[in-house]
Amino acid sequence: MVLWFVFIACFLNNAGVNGQGDNTGFVSIDCGLPEKDISSTLTRTLTYSSDAQFIDAGTNYNISAEYITPTLSPQYFNVRSFKTGIRNCYTIKYLVAGLKYLVRATFMYGNYDGLNKEVVFDLHIGVNYWKTINISDPGKTTIAEVIFVCPVDYIQVCLVNTGLGIPFISSLDLRPIKNHLYPAVNSSQSLVLVRRLNAGPTDTTIIRYPDDPYDRMWEPWSNFPYWNETNTTSYIQTSPNDLFEAPSAVLQTAVIPVNSSEIQFLWFVDPTDDKFISYVANLHFYELIQTDQKREFTITINDVPWYKHSFSPKYLYQDTIYALRPIDGFQLYKVTLAATVDSTLPPILNAVELFILLPVSAVTTDNGDGEVSFYLKHNLIFNFAD
Ligand SMILES: *[C@@H]1O[C@H](CO)[C@@H](O)[C@H](O)[C@H]1NC(C)=O
Ligand SMILES: *[C@@H]1O[C@H](CO)[C@@H](O)[C@H](O)[C@H]1NC(C)=O
Ligand SMILES: *[C@@H]1O[C@H](CO)[C@@H](O)[C@H](O)[C@H]1NC(C)=O
Ligand SMILES: *[C@@H]1O[C@H](CO)[C@@H](O)[C@H](O)[C@H]1NC(C)=O
Ligand SMILES: *[C@@H]1O[C@H](CO)[C@@H](O)[C@H](O)[C@H]1NC(C)=O
Ligand SMILES: *[C@@H]1O[C@H](CO)[C@@H](O)[C@H](O)[C@H]1NC(C)=O
Repeated sequence: MVLWFVFIACFLNNAGVNGQGDNTGFVSIDCGLPEKDISSTLTRTLTYSSDAQFIDAGTNYNISAEYITPTLSPQYFNVRSFKTGIRNCYTIKYLVAGLKYLVRATFMYGNYDGLNKEVVFDLHIGVNYWKTINISDPGKTTIAEVIFVCPVDYIQVCLVNTGLGIPFISSLDLRPIKNHLYPAVNSSQSLVLVRRLNAGPTDTTIIRYPDDPYDRMWEPWSNFPYWNETNTTSYIQTSPNDLFEAPSAVLQTAVIPVNSSEIQFLWFVDPTDDKFISYVANLHFYELIQTDQKREFTITINDVPWYKHSFSPKYLYQDTIYALRPIDGFQLYKVTLAATVDSTLPPILNAVELFILLPVSAVTTDNGDGEVSFYLKHNLIFNFAD
């Protein structure tokens, strides 16, 4: 039984290739932009088209001028809002059934309706629940991302009114992903992003296209003064059988603990959330320093070995630690990278991706939040010199 896409597209008329796709196969939609208008990202490396050809419902608004800042991406300047209808869907056509795609929706309220109210609504991809969007800070940007195998030649992204405010959206992106990447993703399961973190940059820029050819968004992540930021300027080539293709710009920076032999971070599930959540985590490593010393560490989740061997990132060789089987069943997850007794150097970490595993066939009307808090533990200092 095909459970996906049993809903009829809200508006299939004229969703032509105009404004859809470029040589990268990207579809970049600035929701709420007047028909035929385009906008650019701050770095002007990507162009967004109006959403007029992808949806027939809703009303365009500009966000309130007080929220427009020089560092705010222009895609947030306007929104499309859906006062009527329980379920309003964008339809992106001309895809290839069976291929892998990344879909990202962004939101910034910016008091566009002058009501200055909190709003909560659901996002669906096809008929599958994707994420609950909870906007309580009007100036904060919210990003939802899912990587999935498209079962047919189009997708629908739907905003669902759950009685807690008027759904709205700022932008919608679709990016084709090579099919061998993210092996946890197949026709029966998708990955919903929790965080994608680039450890150790000294500035606060989000790395995306063209540094990342798939336009994934890598947030800067550091933990001063407990972690030292380190980097190399050498370009890091991905190997042909790399399953994640973390971009060079992300791998070029890393963190190393200060005065400690451990890197530790944790996340936990909101105790009020009774939904069963399975996580998939990818840890990306790259040894930046050519050294005769030994850097070797273990990786545990909740003190149980996650990777069964001790691990030693090799110079000029990129490694990702990942698991096809998800981790689940806990309220709190603590990841520890701890130097082995033989190691003369502390652990290193270049990037982390954390996802929630979403079963594709499970049609759900779950309004559960899936809200996850992500923390750094920096009060657990070990003296590495000992
Ligand atoms: C939004 O702002 C643009 C430019 O600042 C203006 O041209 C447009 O009329 C505004 N749209 C609405 C719906 O207020
Ligand atoms: C939305 O988030 C706010 C602030 O975190 C929280 O107080 C509220 O309970 C959330 N609402 C829903 C419906 O989850
Ligand atoms: C998807 O991957 C999971 C985990 O490896 C596996 O159990 C499942 O059978 C796969 N589904 C398909 C359709 O290949
Ligand atoms: C690399 O480190 C140097 C020295 O600390 C710093 O000036 C530079 O901004 C860093 N580069 C990145 C990409 O973080
Ligand atoms: C690391 O140790 C040095 C020397 O004991 C101390 O001065 C410094 O504050 C420590 N740094 C952190 C982050 O604990
Ligand atoms: C942190 O990095 C700085 C600059 O690269 C270096 O001087 C310092 O020794 C490092 N500290 C530790 C504890 O590794």
